[in-house]
Amino acid sequence: MQIKTLEQLKLMRKAGLVVAEALNLMKAAIAPGVTPLELDAIAADYLEAHNAVPSFLDYHGYPNVICASVNHEVVHGIPNERPLVAGDIISIDFGAIVDGWHGDSAFSVGVGNIDPADQKFMDTCEESMWRGIAVAKVGGHLTDISHAIESYVQSQGKYGILREYGGHGIGTEMHQDPHVLNYGPAGLGPELKAGLALAIEPMLTRGTEKMKTLSDGWTVIASDKSNGAHFEHTFALLPDGKPFVMTALDGGAGDLGRLGVEISDLIK
Ligand code: MF3
Ligand code: CO
Repeated sequence: MQIKTLEQLKLMRKAGLVVAEALNLMKAAIAPGVTPLELDAIAADYLEAHNAVPSFLDYHGYPNVICASVNHEVVHGIPNERPLVAGDIISIDFGAIVDGWHGDSAFSVGVGNIDPADQKFMDTCEESMWRGIAVAKVGGHLTDISHAIESYVQSQGKYGILREYGGHGIGTEMHQDPHVLNYGPAGLGPELKAGLALAIEPMLTRGTEKMKTLSDGWTVIASDKSNGAHFEHTFALLPDGKPFVMTALDGGAGDLGRLGVEISDLIK
């Protein structure tokens, strides 16, 4: 596990902010008629204008800057030219590198009017991510996060949690140790330490936890073709023991505050 200094975490914040701002631009552009490839171009242009480099492009041969997963695609969808239509739900996953440091974040959102059950499903995914981050404490254990995610998801309905994918350490590489399961008992795994940065990313389906990868080698779908949702934030535990969410514009103050967790003021 890579333990970062405060100075290094301040550099990571720069990457996190680039990711947050670009994701906001993409979210604002999502509407019926827009294509996932147009969203990919928004991300690529934003990176170019901000001296940042995409994390995903060429990662194990990945062909684009963002992942765009529509409806029953859960994660790692490759952006295409099919225009979005009202009623779709789409997940955008995006990572960037600034001065060698990574940020990684994702959201799901509806296109136009959507099924309220899809909205509740996406809200559940997002809230499980926040609950996972909120329980991460110096001296606690990695799977406290896993357990908080799973318990919240299970409390909300019969959703599937992908078993094969999870969160991860992040820093000078996008994927570092430890792997963060989105399920399982609390109190296990490495002890959480100040200076640890993690990407927390629940990946849910409205049905089965069983998945398959399409013949493009990337797109992950639920094997029952139920809709998917994916939220992700990169956060760190700072030297004062408090968390800070690198990829949230407000550092997580709003959502963690609502859950009774104060964020660090060591990073602005
Ligand atoms: N954000 C994804 C993750 O956290 C990475 C997407 S895979 C890629 O694992 F190939 F597109 F980079
Ligand atoms: Co990630």
